[in-house]
Amino acid sequence: MSPRAACRLTQLGFAPVYDYTLGKVDWIAAGLPTVRAGQPSRRVLDAVRRDVEGLDAPVVVEVGTGSGAIALGLASARPTAEIHAVDLVPRAVRSARRNRRRIGAARVHVHRGSLLDPVPERLSGLVDAVVANVPYVPPERRNNSWDFAPGAIGGSDADGLGLVRDLAAAARRFLRPGGSLILQMTGGQWTHFADELAELGYRDGGILGGSGADIVVGARFEESAREVAIP
Ligand SMILES: C[S@@+](CC[C@H](N)C(=O)[O-])C[C@H]1O[C@@H](n2cnc3c(N)ncnc32)[C@H](O)[C@@H]1O
Repeated sequence: MSPRAACRLTQLGFAPVYDYTLGKVDWIAAGLPTVRAGQPSRRVLDAVRRDVEGLDAPVVVEVGTGSGAIALGLASARPTAEIHAVDLVPRAVRSARRNRRRIGAARVHVHRGSLLDPVPERLSGLVDAVVANVPYVPPERRNNSWDFAPGAIGGSDADGLGLVRDLAAAARRFLRPGGSLILQMTGGQWTHFADELAELGYRDGGILGGSGADIVVGARFEESAREVAIP
């Protein structure tokens, strides 16, 4: 399934149900057949799951949760994790909350707002991973058939990375030293964005999944960068 098809399902309120034993996310709606989830969400989920593997009770923030596929998938794999899921769009937030109730994931907190704005200040410096599949598609890859999901796919700034850029800067307040930033983007974007992350105090963790047009990348927030980066 393409990223835009997954986003459409998300915004239409389909429910993702992650079956960890089968290793897949299904999207369900009453009276309709199940549909396989998009590869990008699954890749991001796999990357964050691996990243927090050695931690007893990891604290994870997912930005742009949609209907919650990544946050709820992680919660079913790691029931002791404290997970904060954020989305800007009310319909997505309602959908994620409905799915959370359906799955019974009490340790997933769903917030409405932009990027990390609604994340509780008490988590400052304590978050093990900030993970995001926020809109990043560059202008040259967009087309009119995406009107169904305004604001869900097309990225801002000339290179499409405006939101991702703002998130990387804001995440420094919340990540613990050594904490991870895990992002979905294109291979072309990563070639220049890796340098920007280094300037913000992140150590390149490389490509964690995918190839070419859709990849998942990771970077760790350096301990030494924290004092300089956070006012
Ligand atoms: C590509 S969809 C990803 C949905 C889900 N994480 C997944 O992987 O299936 C991007 C999501 O980011 C949300 N979004 C867009 N701008 C945002 C912002 N400034 N802050 C938080 N979420 C945002 C959209 O509403 C949409 O649900």
